[in-house]
Amino acid sequence: MSKKVYIGCDHAALHMKNDIVGYLNDKGYDVEDMGTYTPDKVDYPVYAEKVGRAVVADKGSLGILICGTGIGMSMAVNKIRGVRAAAVSEVYSAILTRKHNDANVLCFGARVIGIETAKMIVDGFLEAEYEGERHAKRVGMIAALEEGSSLS
Ligand code: RB5
Repeated sequence: MSKKVYIGCDHAALHMKNDIVGYLNDKGYDVEDMGTYTPDKVDYPVYAEKVGRAVVADKGSLGILICGTGIGMSMAVNKIRGVRAAAVSEVYSAILTRKHNDANVLCFGARVIGIETAKMIVDGFLEAEYEGERHAKRVGMIAALEEGSSLS
């Protein structure tokens, strides 16, 4: 398994991020930890940008962003062209956002879920594949919105 995974967090999620990095390394993923690396307070959009730009630049890679809720990270990273990020708290959505939305960044909250749920969510997200076909038109419409087009 050699899928490239970029991961980032803020201070609220440092321990969970470190645990997930170790978990993914043990599983054989090629993980790049883009910080934060210390418990000092930081601004989550900085790490959202690092991971989002890395994922867009590295075709086929996936990103993981963890903050307190997962929400701020998802809001910030979704502002980057080419990112499709989902904030999730359970496995079903983690799998379906890959299969149907072709999500390339997974966000979740270290203050919302525990580490075992986080591991299951990460597994579901990284192991699921985009199904294309009927979903491709809709994902294309998301891209059109991103470019400023109107759909109606
Ligand atoms: C930090 O306190 C917290 O606001 C942040 O981790 C995140 O939950 C924001 O969405």
